[in-house]
Amino acid sequence: MSARPRNLAGVITFEQVSKRYPDGTLAVDGLSLEIPDGATTVLVGPSGCGKTTSLRMINRMIDPSHGRILIDGKDITSEPAPLLRRGIGYVIQNAGLFPNRTVLGNIATVPLLVGMSKRAARARASELLERVGLAPELGKRYPAQLSGGQQQRVGVARALAADPPILLMDEPFSAVDPVVRTELQDELLRLQHELGKTVVFVTHDIDEAVKLGDRLAIMAVGGRLAQFGTPAEVLEAPADDFVAAFVGRDRGYRALSFASADALPVHPEPTVKLGEPLRGNGWLLVVDDTDAPRGWVNADEHPAGQPVRQQDLRLGGTLLAPGGSVRTALDAALSSPSGRGVAVDAAGKVRGTLRPGDVFGAAERAATSGSTEAYYDEKQLTATEHAELTAAEQGADRLSKDGR
Ligand SMILES: Nc1ncnc2c1ncn2[C@@H]1O[C@H](COP(=O)(O)OP(=O)(O)OP(=O)(O)O)[C@@H](O)[C@H]1O
Ligand SMILES: [Mg+2]
Repeated sequence: MSARPRNLAGVITFEQVSKRYPDGTLAVDGLSLEIPDGATTVLVGPSGCGKTTSLRMINRMIDPSHGRILIDGKDITSEPAPLLRRGIGYVIQNAGLFPNRTVLGNIATVPLLVGMSKRAARARASELLERVGLAPELGKRYPAQLSGGQQQRVGVARALAADPPILLMDEPFSAVDPVVRTELQDELLRLQHELGKTVVFVTHDIDEAVKLGDRLAIMAVGGRLAQFGTPAEVLEAPADDFVAAFVGRDRGYRALSFASADALPVHPEPTVKLGEPLRGNGWLLVVDDTDAPRGWVNADEHPAGQPVRQQDLRLGGTLLAPGGSVRTALDAALSSPSGRGVAVDAAGKVRGTLRPGDVFGAAERAATSGSTEAYYDEKQLTATEHAELTAAEQGADRLSKDGR
């Protein structure tokens, strides 16, 4: 939409920024940080560590006590605050919509403010409504007539209305239930993939941070920046005890999200369709007419030859799709009643299954080297061969130690 020059992409630089409130509280302490353009940076940390204060200093709702903030190299105080804010969308918890304006009216606020015609602003608002996944008829409603999740989507649409290069989001999804929250997160990822804004997102939820962030800025109470890096870097190598404790005990498991499962061997898996006779023994994978997985049936629990019925199905677990991570592969294996994780192709058809040994081997490789793919490519080993090899090496180690 906007004719934004290429060199104005929204790099945000904090130079030794501190904020002391009049009552003496040091909310932010000497923060130096370069927030890259076109990516999502998440400020994450415990309550009261200065996340909101830092965010609001970017659009000058709060002024720093010391230091300065630059956008694309230009001091943000060099232009009037209202002008600065036109290039910065802002989304808060509970959306903060104007209750007396319709949904379209809310979204059109900034376009009208910057002089767009009523007609053009309405058209832009309708386009954005669709963009954030809301039905056009909702445009006429008032905020109180929407669910919390819908209001939050309108909040995002409103912030995007003037196509600002920068989007500030302060715990935007904290007030909605976990299912809606996941939907909103997925929607933001999709939007950001299309739009490539400089997004600064505040949360105290490390899972949300890892999911959404290209970069994480981990903040400690007292407004100290404890670590800045990619989610993988932070999970794999926490800078100090505070970060290690904050990213939590599941960090090893979370880190598996960054290891690709594409190199894992997928083994052929016999399948059966609903209505077809049961055969063989043990767990049998049931598929629909398009070869998409429906669940598992245990042939041992039913007379041989009995047609597979819907009520006999044990629903399957997570599926591994192309591009999936070792974390998903592990979850697919652990959540499958057969222990074999189901791998599907991009169209959702069954490709085969993953052997638990392969997946555990990949998890081990990922934990120790951060990369499974390179290893398999280099050694031309399957994960099972690798797992066996490792076990053999460990056995040999133990033998030689015992021998001493
Ligand atoms: N207007 C104010 N006057 C005095 N102290 C304030 C003011 N606003 C915030 N603070 C204090 O500054 C510190 C940082 O507050 P801030 O709102 O930035 O934290 P936060 O990380 O966003 O926390 P939360 O996760 O709870 O939203 C806190 O100790 C808070 O009490
Ligand atoms: Mg806050």
